[in-house]
Amino acid sequence: MSIKKITTNSLLKMKVNGEKISMLTAYDYSFARLFDAAGVDILLVGDSASNVMAGNETTLPITLDQMIYHAQCVIKGAQRSFVVVDLPFGSYQSNSEIALASSIKIMKETGAHAIKLEGGEEVADSIKRIVSAGIPVMGHLGLTPQSINKFGTYSVRAKEDSEAEKLKYDSKVLQDAGCFAVVLEKIPALLAKEVSESLSIPTIGIGAGKYCDGQVLVMHDMLGINSAFKPRFIRQYLNLETLINGAVTQYIADVKSNDFPNESESY
Ligand code: KIV
Repeated sequence: MSIKKITTNSLLKMKVNGEKISMLTAYDYSFARLFDAAGVDILLVGDSASNVMAGNETTLPITLDQMIYHAQCVIKGAQRSFVVVDLPFGSYQSNSEIALASSIKIMKETGAHAIKLEGGEEVADSIKRIVSAGIPVMGHLGLTPQSINKFGTYSVRAKEDSEAEKLKYDSKVLQDAGCFAVVLEKIPALLAKEVSESLSIPTIGIGAGKYCDGQVLVMHDMLGINSAFKPRFIRQYLNLETLINGAVTQYIADVKSNDFPNESESY
């Protein structure tokens, strides 16, 4: 049976039909395959790989080639899901020519379906240029982790009227520039509702409440791989940290006691 792949058109239809869009980060083949098989609509090869895969404090250190490596792994596990890859810090901010070159490199070397970049009006020219080269672009507003050094905290954004007005304006600019969707990170739910209702493209929320057209979580957060990190917007569906600790502790005990391997596990 042939699989009906998710496209930018199907995502738009989902918004029109009121069907919520599910998105999860993925960074390797094995998890991408599991998430795809479970039916996740969008797999995001997020630059959060810098934190959860490489152990960095911020998303800033990850390089374009490292993002490409993760995307190459994810795409092999994705049969139905739409795969979006983050442009990492430094690969697009200089000018639209560099932004286009980075996007083309990702598309050529990974086979991914779209790129994502952070920012509002200041990246509009880059978005137009990338979109006119035939590459779908997802925007990202609100908390933009690549700008952490400018803001100094990961707290909720756009609580003040002026920042909320700017975010509403930027969301229209991104839509007009050609984005097919926009991530809204850590903003008040009612602001996300207003933005979602005012745009014709889907909004995907993370810490932005239930009125967005879809939701995204970092896989490590929803699977409970680092249960010390638990801001209120995360719903933890598994406690993988405890499960893995139990399994590995048992394995060590079995090896030490010479219980593993037994006869049936030997040739
Ligand atoms: O890199 C990432 O994981 C992201 C999501 C938090 C939206 O950009």
